[in-house]
Amino acid sequence: MTAQQNGQIIMNGKGKLNQFGDYTDVANMSVDDWNYRWSLDQTKFHMPKVHPMLQKHIQKLTVGKTKQRVFVALSGKTLDMKWLLEQGHEVVGNDCADLACKQFFEEHKIPYKTEKLSGIDGTVYKATDGQLITLYRCDCFELSSKIIGKFDCIWDRGGFVAIPVKERKRYAASIQDLMKQDCRYLLDCFLVDNEIFGGPPFNCNEENVKECFTKYCTVKKIDTRDAFTKWQESWGIKSFIEDVYLLQPKVQIQSNR
Ligand SMILES: C[S@@+](CC[C@H](N)C(=O)[O-])C[C@H]1O[C@@H](n2cnc3c(N)ncnc32)[C@H](O)[C@@H]1O
Repeated sequence: MTAQQNGQIIMNGKGKLNQFGDYTDVANMSVDDWNYRWSLDQTKFHMPKVHPMLQKHIQKLTVGKTKQRVFVALSGKTLDMKWLLEQGHEVVGNDCADLACKQFFEEHKIPYKTEKLSGIDGTVYKATDGQLITLYRCDCFELSSKIIGKFDCIWDRGGFVAIPVKERKRYAASIQDLMKQDCRYLLDCFLVDNEIFGGPPFNCNEENVKECFTKYCTVKKIDTRDAFTKWQESWGIKSFIEDVYLLQPKVQIQSNR
């Protein structure tokens, strides 16, 4: 079996099938690797509808408030952003692929302008018709609250579980930096056998979430469902469970002593 990554043919016949349908080792994908997949239109992770877990748990995410600042982590061009916008929130997304940002604005016919980010390799895509939607094209590890501010809500489907497993603690620290003190963070994860399936997503159980986030947040599993479809069946696995967590910053207890 051959696969191409960053313009190079990789012979990797003994590897595991990945979500892109080849046998390239994707355990440590770089931003260039993701851009390459976008250039090939290998974006089957993109859903043609709003994510059902976001719709189901929107009250827990926003606590019924409108006009929340919502960060959509590793956003791709998810329809969730358009939906959140329609609910009256300000939406900020981040993806390393220019194609994701461009396609989002173009597919929704939202006029936009772009500007280079100063200090890091990145581009801001901003709606010019008054809609409160901004996408930051850059490596998530280069983004910080100094650049994009802090958020009331964070929605993460396919972010934490898509980055290399060894980067999870670093990712957790960068998410924590974006949280307002009363932020709610909805995190969507999967139980998946990566001994058989090359990913992404990469398996993430409650203990994995806690070992990265309990330093900063309370962690509560709020939902679980069988998410096994024909696509997962084609990966050779037998089960695919989706778990949803609600994380909130731990209350800082002020002491005068
Ligand atoms: C599995 S997809 C999920 C996209 C989106 N959340 C959705 O539900 O459709 C992961 C996305 O993360 C982006 N990505 C991966 N690594 C990244 C990084 N280090 N910084 C920013 N974006 C990244 C990829 O380009 C890809 O669009």
